[in-house]
Amino acid sequence: MRRGAFATRIGAIATAVGSAVGLGNIWRFPYEAGTNGGGAFLMIYLFFIAIVGIPLLCAEFAMGRDSRANAVKTFASLTGRKSMGAVGVMGIVASVLILSFYSVVAGWTIEYTIISFSRGFKSTDVETLHSLFNSSIASPAKSLFFTWLFLLINYFALARGVRKGIESLSNLLMPVLFLILIVFCVNSLMLPDAGRGLRFLFAVDFSQVSVTTVLSAMGQAFFSLSIGLGCMLTYGSYFKDSTIIPRTAVSIASLDTLVAILSGIIIFPAVFSFGMSPTAGPTLVFETLPAIFGAMAGGRILAPLFFILLFIASLTSTISMSEISISFCTEQFGWSRKKASAAVIGLSMALGGLCALSFGPLANFKICSLTVFNLFDFASSNVLLPLGGVCASLIAGWAYPRSRLAAQLSLTGNKLFSVIRFLLRYIIPLCILLIFINSL
Ligand code: PHE
Repeated sequence: MRRGAFATRIGAIATAVGSAVGLGNIWRFPYEAGTNGGGAFLMIYLFFIAIVGIPLLCAEFAMGRDSRANAVKTFASLTGRKSMGAVGVMGIVASVLILSFYSVVAGWTIEYTIISFSRGFKSTDVETLHSLFNSSIASPAKSLFFTWLFLLINYFALARGVRKGIESLSNLLMPVLFLILIVFCVNSLMLPDAGRGLRFLFAVDFSQVSVTTVLSAMGQAFFSLSIGLGCMLTYGSYFKDSTIIPRTAVSIASLDTLVAILSGIIIFPAVFSFGMSPTAGPTLVFETLPAIFGAMAGGRILAPLFFILLFIASLTSTISMSEISISFCTEQFGWSRKKASAAVIGLSMALGGLCALSFGPLANFKICSLTVFNLFDFASSNVLLPLGGVCASLIAGWAYPRSRLAAQLSLTGNKLFSVIRFLLRYIIPLCILLIFINSL
């Protein structure tokens, strides 16, 4: 079977971690927390990880392992209705949108890797860092070049079968990334205004909370755990029968959240110490990190290492999102892997090009007052993923036979199962729909 080549079963859990941990933790979490008031955002985010994220992760893994098929087929077969495959198709659309804007940011990591190897980061001056970012990112030629370069690397990984190699490499290197993050944390905690940064990240001030904060925290939880689009369902289809799904889901969610919080502890003390603004948006991390490296003993050596590891972490995430469409095209239309990869990457290059130009020539081209980059980010994370989550939750709670779900979760006869099923049937769909209605 062609899909058998996609991942070794032994490495399935590690690859699921590879999908979850990426730019979502290190780049997106700090910028979302920064624009949404810090501590309160973090609290709401943790709530969504626990109440919505972990049960949905369990449900996606369970349905995937049970059907051993792609998301479109799984939803259609579990509900007995072909039309329900549309939920899987919505996930495919979301994955292409995410791949398009994600590749722009991954392109920035390639460029910063090169800079950190060549001249390095020396300045901690806000203006200098701002112009460094602008001269690279806002320059249309460079931005397009690095976005497309990243997508082409994806193409080779996906079409040429080196994917497994990249994933093994990633499994080997992620603990190193983790160690480096710890070193950066210690360094940030010693900065002069570290206390202000920590208060911003951890002190909860609910007076700052709006519907947008809640919507963004929910979107971030979906994005970071790679749920709501059939990605984890696909990975679940490669799990061994002996894998204990709830334990796996809790481990993945904990590790993923830990990396996000570490990233917050690195970024916010620096933001306040170097006189930057936490509300900078998508550029936040790329303007703060160079300042950290510029001021840090050993920064000259750790910076390139960090950016390479971040690049690899991004690659394992984009491979996982591309795979949703590729496995669909190969299984549904009988396309070769090469043809499917070319189609998915080609489309993402066109859309990613528009996202890349959003920081330069297309900065004023706005739809619903959002640039193309921000629109793709918002529409996928805050709309399509939660909507996919509602559907997956309802299918797992209502259409999927109780006994089969319990057996997949190894929770037959256990009280915890009733809690998870109750969350899937009522709480998760209602909670998401209420937030949607409120934000309209
Ligand atoms: N979770 C990944 C990250 O944090 C992004 C991602 C989203 C991957 C959706 C796959 C699907 O970087």
